[in-house]
Amino acid sequence: MFVRRNPVALPLRRLIRFRAWFAFVALLGAAPGVLAAQPESAPRPKVLVIATGGTIAGVQDVPGTLGAYRAGTLTAEQILASVPQLAAVAQVETEQFSNVASPLISPDQWIALARRIDGVLRSRPDLAGVVVTHGTDRLEETAFFLYLTVRSEKPVVLVGAQRPATGISADGPINLLAAVRTAVAPQAVGKGVMVVMDDRIISAREVRKHYQRVGGFDGGDMGMLGVVARNGPEFFYAPARRRGPASEFDLAGVTALPDVDLVFAYPGSTGRTYQRAPAGVVVSVTGFTCAESATYQALVRTGVPVVAAFPSGENVSGNDPSDSSRARIHDECPGMDSTFVFRTPWLPMISVHHLTPQKVRILLMLALTRTRDPREIQRFFDTY
Ligand code: SIN
Repeated sequence: MFVRRNPVALPLRRLIRFRAWFAFVALLGAAPGVLAAQPESAPRPKVLVIATGGTIAGVQDVPGTLGAYRAGTLTAEQILASVPQLAAVAQVETEQFSNVASPLISPDQWIALARRIDGVLRSRPDLAGVVVTHGTDRLEETAFFLYLTVRSEKPVVLVGAQRPATGISADGPINLLAAVRTAVAPQAVGKGVMVVMDDRIISAREVRKHYQRVGGFDGGDMGMLGVVARNGPEFFYAPARRRGPASEFDLAGVTALPDVDLVFAYPGSTGRTYQRAPAGVVVSVTGFTCAESATYQALVRTGVPVVAAFPSGENVSGNDPSDSSRARIHDECPGMDSTFVFRTPWLPMISVHHLTPQKVRILLMLALTRTRDPREIQRFFDTY
């Protein structure tokens, strides 16, 4: 018999069927046996989630829209409440370090956060690891500072979200779940501080935010350490550079970080002038104008380290330019020492190894807590 179907009701019924199927799959996904790699009776590892704010704690003026929001609004407990699946993976404790948008996280707070994480991992052998929720804008800087200064083998994982907690398809809950799964994974021990975003596990040394949409974090040329798959984290690589317990950066006697400026070199620039010289300067550079070179040379002569870094994070090598390029540069900038002009005005030149200018700044700040000797500063850049 021919049955006439209501053209509106059919897609609606399909949608309802799809939703029922989706709910069933979601329920299955939330079941402890699927999420946790251990039997239900096994004690779940303990994790401390330290919340600092950011979009992962963001609430919109009109929830459920694409509209504006205020970062750093929900508390750690409220964020956790949106991820009931966590209970199957770990016993989660929370701590509210701050509740701000990440541009408000200052170097003083880096020091306080590193001390807190180091201290709690030292005094609490029962903790498997620490997860830090953080705004994505400055996540890579905090992560790298912690990478250099937290002297524990245990996993420390930073995580954020690009959509607010009340937004459509918020990414915070799945990112947080992936971060906690990584922090409790035995394979994560000794890998240094990591960032988990969009199921990618990225070393804090390499991580960068390329754009402010979901999927916007990666490790540049250096890629990622692994992924968080259905059955848990899968690692493929380990960082090779110094970190964790081997780090020389002891914050015990450090009350504030040296004042290191970060500036851009650009066509037509004459370089930055200072009323009071900073402790160091990092120049994000693809090449210097003659005037910039003269400015930074003058700064170096007063004893201020000036370090050049490519915006892309590529290596800026300490090699002298070839003789022919020396001659050409000399013609272009008459009266100038050509070794200064081409790449970096520091003598002997500091070579930075695949670090973005922001991260060069952080390593230079920490290096300057230990030394002002250029050879020793170079050793830090060669090691970390
Ligand atoms: C922030 O960095 O706090 C705001 C942006 C974000 O978390 O994505």
